[in-house]
Amino acid sequence: MTMGKILITGAKGQLGKTLLPYLSESNLSEKYSVVSSDRYKLDLSRHDSICSFLSSCKPSVIINCAAYTAVDSAEIEFELAKKINDEAVGHIAGWASKNGCRLIQISTDFVFDGSKQKPYTPGDLAAPIGVYGRTKQAGEKHILELLNGSGVIVRTSWLYSEHCQNFVKKMIRLMSEKSELGVVSDQVGSPTSTHTLAKLLIKLIENQSFCGIFHWCDGASISWYDFAVEIQEASLAQGLLKKRIPLSPLRSADFPTMATRPLYSVLDRSYTLEKFAIIGTDWRMELGEVIKRISEKTED
Ligand SMILES: NC(=O)c1ccc[n+]([C@@H]2O[C@H](COP(=O)([O-])OP(=O)(O)OC[C@H]3O[C@@H](n4cnc5c(N)ncnc54)[C@H](OP(=O)(O)O)[C@@H]3O)[C@@H](O)[C@H]2O)c1
Repeated sequence: MTMGKILITGAKGQLGKTLLPYLSESNLSEKYSVVSSDRYKLDLSRHDSICSFLSSCKPSVIINCAAYTAVDSAEIEFELAKKINDEAVGHIAGWASKNGCRLIQISTDFVFDGSKQKPYTPGDLAAPIGVYGRTKQAGEKHILELLNGSGVIVRTSWLYSEHCQNFVKKMIRLMSEKSELGVVSDQVGSPTSTHTLAKLLIKLIENQSFCGIFHWCDGASISWYDFAVEIQEASLAQGLLKKRIPLSPLRSADFPTMATRPLYSVLDRSYTLEKFAIIGTDWRMELGEVIKRISEKTED
């Protein structure tokens, strides 16, 4: 039997690192071989090499986890962010369309402007307010135009894991170094463990007929400050932090950043839960699992 091939781009990012073991442990490994790429194997800012790489690899499924994800730096390096998040996705989608390949693109809550105040559904109007969100939305458009009826976009939010850099790991480090900490409390969103997202991606590969836009998060509607409070409690419970420090809520205006972020970006995952007939994950439980993994991890 000929095996198909799954290509995971951005394999050294936090989602890529989480996803690879789930793939090799799933039943998919009986049907597919898995190939991964990092920026050295496939540099998405070098468009001349994308199609030749794909033609030599011949994947039947691509999960594009690679992205320019530095939200603030994107405001300055906008050309690079555009090359990776927008134009490269166009090249990958074009190749996928010509070669009958299934493309699953990971996108973001930052495609929304944050003015809604109710969880965003996949059909809501995307109106990004920063360079990162604009380039990711442009990436989505390539999928919708070139792979209409077969492409998949999974929008997720506030990703964290035991791998690489993320808010959870940053908070734990700061809480162990500082005697008090201020955290932004007027941006509301929904944290997502890369583990729950990885499990959804496996289901998406298994269900070949599922296409279009899906939203995925772990079901919270909280501020960064609320999240930090829970990170501290879970880390104390796991023995990852030795003592509690006072946390105080900050306004975004008191903590200026290069990029403006949506003040509200909770994703409505109900369509995804219904379509896959699955029960929603619990954000506190998932945070606890990741904090346990962080406490057990010896190196990145
Ligand atoms: N992080 C979040 O909070 C969040 C929220 C919503 C959506 N998302 C989306 O989720 C996906 C996964 O994010 P993540 O958190 O896993 O991001 P990440 O940890 O920053 O990983 C992104 C990966 O992309 C790679 N990359 C960057 N430039 C590249 C290039 N020119 N060519 C090839 N690869 C390149 C990076 O390589 P290096 O390791 O060499 O830098 C990195 O491995 C992305 O599409 C992101 O937009 C993330």
